[in-house]
Parts: sequence; C-alpha cells; structure tokens
Amino acid sequence: MAEKKVKIPENGINREEILRELEDIHKGDANWKEGRTWSLVYYAGEEHNEFLKKVYNTFFSENGLNPMAFPSLKRFEAEVLSMSADMLGGDDRVVGAMTTGGTESILMAVKTYREWGKAKKKIEKPEMVLPISAHPAFEKAAHYFSVKPVHYAVGEDYRADVAAARECINENTVLLVGSAPSYPHGVVDPIPELAALALEKEIGMHVDSCLGGYLLPFVKKLGYPIPDYDFRAPGVTSISADVHKYGFAAKGASVVLYKNAALRRHQFFVYPDWPGGLYGSPSMTGTRPGGSIAAAWAALRAFGVDGYMKNAEKIMNITIKLRDGVAAVPGVKIIGKPDMSVFAFTTDEVDVFAVADELEKRGWHIDRQQSPNCLHVMVTLAHEHISDQFVSDLKSSVEYLKENPTAAKQGSAPMYGMMATIPDRGMVKEFALEFLDSLYTV
Ligand SMILES: Cc1ncc(COP(=O)(O)O)c(C=O)c1O
Repeated sequence: MAEKKVKIPENGINREEILRELEDIHKGDANWKEGRTWSLVYYAGEEHNEFLKKVYNTFFSENGLNPMAFPSLKRFEAEVLSMSADMLGGDDRVVGAMTTGGTESILMAVKTYREWGKAKKKIEKPEMVLPISAHPAFEKAAHYFSVKPVHYAVGEDYRADVAAARECINENTVLLVGSAPSYPHGVVDPIPELAALALEKEIGMHVDSCLGGYLLPFVKKLGYPIPDYDFRAPGVTSISADVHKYGFAAKGASVVLYKNAALRRHQFFVYPDWPGGLYGSPSMTGTRPGGSIAAAWAALRAFGVDGYMKNAEKIMNITIKLRDGVAAVPGVKIIGKPDMSVFAFTTDEVDVFAVADELEKRGWHIDRQQSPNCLHVMVTLAHEHISDQFVSDLKSSVEYLKENPTAAKQGSAPMYGMMATIPDRGMVKEFALEFLDSLYTV
C-alpha cells in the first residue's frame, strides 16, 4: 500500500494563513481549559498562562546548554533548585539539576545510582527495587541504562510493602524507589520506612515526587496527614519533582535533587576529547530550552508559598467534593485511600471500561488503568466548576450500562478489557508497538 506522504512545501506559506490553519487544527484537541481532561494539562487560569507565555517568550531563543553564555538562565536554574530544595526539607548540601520533565529526572537518578554503585561498591550488574506502582519512567531508565528492575507487589492499601522490598534487596541493589504520591492510585508510599531500610542497607533511596512535587508540601502544611516523605526522612538521598505539573510552570521543567554534590557528580556527563571542544552536560539533553527554565523560576516566584497554599486548599476541596460525589454513585468505589488530588475509581456492577466509553460520549477525556481495572482522575484548578457535571455524567453512564448491558460489548471497552487480562504480555507489547507505529505516520 502506497504511504501518503506530506512534503515540505516547495514555496513557503504566508504566516497569517498558517496561523489560521493552526487555529482550525487546534479545535480537534481535548478541551483541557474547561476541565474536560483528567491528565496531561495543569492549568491555573488565563492570567497566569498569559504571564508564563510572556516569560517563556522572553527566553524563547536562549539555550541552557551553555550557562556561561546566559548568566540569566544559570541564575534561574540555581534559584529554582535552591527554592525546591528548601521546600523539600533539604539542607545547604542539597544540590540538583533541572531537566525537561519527570521522565528525564528519573532517568538521571537511575543513571546516577548505577554510576554510584560502580564507583563505591564495584557493582557491575546493578539492580533497583521498586513497587509495581512506580512510574514507567523507571522501566525506561532500566531499559536504557541496563539496570535490572526488581518489582514487588503493593500492599492491600496500594502502597509500597516495605517487607516485600526488603526481600528483593541483594548485594547488587543500588537503589530503592518510592512515590509521593504514586500516579495510578494517588497514595504516598511509606517513605520513612523505605528510607530507613535504604539507610540500613547503605543504598540509595529515590522519592519520585514528580506528581506531588509542588502540591504535596502545601497539602501537608494544610494539616492533611502526610508522613515525612522528603529530605526530612533520614535515608532519602534524592527526589524528583516536576515544576511543570502542580508548580504550574510551562511544560519542560522538572528538578532532580540529591543530598550532596558528590552524589550528583555521578549524573554529569563530560567528554573532554571532542574536536568541537570540551563538552559537559548535566542531563540527557544537549540543548535545553531557556523558556521553560525561566518560566519555572517565574512561576515559583509568582505564586510564592501563600499562592501555592491557596492552590492546595482549593485543589483539595475540589478533590474531596469530587471523590465523595464519585463514591456516592451506586456501585462505584474509590481505590485505596488517596492522599492528594489524584485518585482512581472502579465498579463491580458494570464494565468500568464501558463507563469510560460512556463518559467520552459525554465529552470527557478519561484514562483507563489496569490491575485492577479502573479509571483515573487528576484534579486541578480547572475542575472547580465542573465536578458536579462529572459526577452526574458518571451516574448516568453507570445507570445506562445497567439498563443496556449489551452496550459494554461495543466501543473500546472489549479491547481494553482484553488488553488488561491477556496473559501473554508479549502480545500486548507487540500490539502497543504497532499502535505507536501508526501514531507517527501521516
Ligand atoms: C509519579 C510520576 N512520576 C513521573 C512522571 C513522569 O513525568 P513526565 O511525564 O513529566 O515525564 C509522572 C507523570 O505523570 C508521574 O505521575
């Protein structure tokens, strides 16, 4: 079959025309501004977004690859790291680096512990121990950097099971992982206990607070019962936190922090022999967009502690109202006891993936999860005026499916159901690869 190709136009197109075209194409995207999505976009209102765009545009062309050329970016990065370390209970020795996102921060942390294990303990076949709820960025890191991931099941509360973690540690283990909170079920792992275990075994303890990063500290300050999960917990040696999530910065901004510079040293990459000059780089990417570094700095300063506290209060109020509303829908239950603004729900009475299809028909973009099958919700400020509508649509979806059981056999529900339960995971992987192929062709 001939592949349809799009080529670079022979002659450039009028920029105004392209802008009009763009607007049109944009119309097909998910409606995050009105809270119709439950992931991907963190929106703190139009005024803040316009402010971020101004900041981003001011540093649109600058490149964080060489901070010597751009002292502005050097200052922003150092100050973002310092503000973040302070927020996460770090002392004066805590250092870090900015990256383009949670995945890059996690990749860097895993690579750091691999190098640390080699240098300090002569470990040639490094392993890391992680609960199955940890973000796939750790699997990606394992894959890229040849670190063996050793998984264990979570407890009945969906949190990391410390006794199970202990069983997985051996002489090749360089790292324990915990989430604050986990993406799938929004629960904070028992970090003080995991960190104490890491301390006892003299290995690294990374806290993935990519999601919680700039919300959880303020939720804790509001008085919600969150255990110490940051540098305040003895044994925590590194933390990742995403400014582009609940920090409400522009996309492309995260931090990875280490308890001291000696540990961070293992993250850096230097190649002294290149004819192009002495090459040094702190993280995965070469070029680093100045706009996202500047916007992260500006967002932290624009909100300040009082602004983030207000955000946290609002987001938690919306979450609790929504969670209670969802739990009150007959037959629907919340998974575990989520600690922050992220939660999952399911139902035994109808096919939960068919519920997702019904919600989509009603204009919602919702994510499906497996083990157990459930739907995922991540609350932001954009959901303030729309949570009642969601609960009402959820209720009518469930009712509809109870009255029309055959509807669950249509739509995407059977496919998702099969993917979640098919024992041959290799087959599922193959299917996902085919799907990825299809995404990037015209
Ligand atoms: C807990 C957690 N860790 C890591 C990541 C990866 O972040 P990113 O998508 O910015 O790479 C996410 C993303 O949602 C997350 O929720």
